[in-house]
Amino acid sequence: MLKVAVAKGRIAEKVVPILNTSEEFGGLIDLSSRKLIFEDSRRQITYIIVKPGDLPVYVESGAADVGLVGKDVLMESECSVYELLDLKTGCCRMAVAGLPGRPQAPYGRRKVATKYPRLAGSYFRSKAEPVEIIRLEGSIELAPLVGLSDAIVDIVESGKTLEENGLTIYEEICAISTRLIANKVSYKLKNDVINRFSAIFG
Ligand code: PRP
Repeated sequence: MLKVAVAKGRIAEKVVPILNTSEEFGGLIDLSSRKLIFEDSRRQITYIIVKPGDLPVYVESGAADVGLVGKDVLMESECSVYELLDLKTGCCRMAVAGLPGRPQAPYGRRKVATKYPRLAGSYFRSKAEPVEIIRLEGSIELAPLVGLSDAIVDIVESGKTLEENGLTIYEEICAISTRLIANKVSYKLKNDVINRFSAIFG
């Protein structure tokens, strides 16, 4: 049995149409349903649909053998898993952004709001820039608009959220895309089936 975790939301919307074309592994997931598990015992395949930030935990623990998740989540996670493949879908950028013309705080350390405190902290440390990280759960773009932070670190896909909220990119940190990851033990014990699964993505 191969257990595959798929990150809910943007990633699932991009990868499920690809998965569903596979003869061996496809045609199982229906994203219009609220079901969290899709299983075919005859073909020995199970998909679980999980919150992106939780996905590395499922794979590290072996609750899933492999997973499809964004590089942003992997960079933020401390989980120990193998990263097998860059699917080159779900492409976006991790960026520092804020109100135009104000890249620096008027005094002292910049306050930076983000869902990615580890990633943001390590980026600013690498630049030797002291910042205060403010961890938020979502709608990060709101923080500089209401004076909670001087800047944000967040993913930018189309750029629409920044634009519609009058924010601009100060710096790009890195490119982000969807990755196939594997549990370290599963990768050894189920190597054949994991390689066949991986081949769906070319
Ligand atoms: C993400 C991200 C940005 C937005 C970027 O948020 O945090 O807010 O998408 O996409 P865009 O450049 O195409 O506008 P998401 O929609 O996942 O929701 P969240 O703000 O609740 O995290």
